[in-house]
Amino acid sequence: MASARLTRCKLHLAMLLLLALLTVSCGNASTQAVPERATSTPLQSLRSLAQARSMYIGTVVNVDALQSEEQYGEVLAREFNIVTPEVSLKFDATEPELNQYNFDGGDTIVAFAKAHNIQVRGHTLVWYRALPSWLTAGKFSRSELMQILRDHIFTEVLHYRGQINIWDVVNEAVNNDGTLRDSIWLRGIGPDYIDWAFRWAHEANPQARLFYNDFGGEGSGRKSLQRGVPISGVGLQMHVGIDSYPDPQGVLANMQRLNALGLEVQITEMDVRIQGDQRPVQTRLSIQAQIYRDMLSVCLSVAGCTAFVMWGFTDLHSWIPSATGHPDAPLIFDQNYRPKPAYFALMDDLEQRV
Ligand code: XIL
Repeated sequence: MASARLTRCKLHLAMLLLLALLTVSCGNASTQAVPERATSTPLQSLRSLAQARSMYIGTVVNVDALQSEEQYGEVLAREFNIVTPEVSLKFDATEPELNQYNFDGGDTIVAFAKAHNIQVRGHTLVWYRALPSWLTAGKFSRSELMQILRDHIFTEVLHYRGQINIWDVVNEAVNNDGTLRDSIWLRGIGPDYIDWAFRWAHEANPQARLFYNDFGGEGSGRKSLQRGVPISGVGLQMHVGIDSYPDPQGVLANMQRLNALGLEVQITEMDVRIQGDQRPVQTRLSIQAQIYRDMLSVCLSVAGCTAFVMWGFTDLHSWIPSATGHPDAPLIFDQNYRPKPAYFALMDDLEQRV
């Protein structure tokens, strides 16, 4: 029994190691100058241009900002046709006490999205972070944890059935070296928690497209396909900086490989940090713009890349300053909702392709 488990475990890790080869490499993208543009908001929007080529362009949504700032909702509805709730659908937000669910934040975003004909990416059912203390502090047996996870996935996916058709089922389960990341799920259930999560999400909503989401390189796709697990796609987060970002050709090759495995691909959390670099701010903003443009271009050139989603749109609400401890400006609108060079670079790229 123990040795059977060990063999399974080894097989699992071996596959992940193999798949870690899909990791995109870091290098320098081309940094040709971004054309100068007036800094007023243009008549066309990212959304209208994306729609014209059946593409989704999106952002994460901060539910507090949506509820308190009129301008936030205006820009959101004008510029994007897909959104991802930033924290509202995570485990600690949705099941703050065992079997007591709270979908207020998610419902607010879903209602806004419906009113403006915007798709919603459900983020995220299984993660090692954002867990409630009843779960992290509790002492649960393997079967109890299986039950907890199954109930959670079923309840959340069923609550949004018909409204959320794309789920990041598992988030950040793989370390950079290809091993599985330590988590309450890995320790308590074992490596097959990933497979179970996809199966349960699929059972709860067979129509939903189910994603594995991670930063760096993503590998669970091939593993899951080989094991008959219902996975539709892989999300490439793309949290990068002007001094460390993947070579667009490497991203292209990665997307094509995943595509060839029958997997859909989405860029799911893009932001581009500009802090910690000595060059003048205009130079940094123009490099930032070029990186955004390069990654959108890559996505646009791969048939199976169906969405380009940023982790926010205004620098006012980026998670980066609190995550890194430094002020930054990683998004495409500034703190006053004025479009930055990166916004115009995305517009240009879309315009050229429509
Ligand atoms: C981040 C949120 O933006 C923060 O507000 C929160 O405090 C922590 O989580 N990768 C992910 C996202 O998949 O869920 C994370 O979101 C950012 C990194």
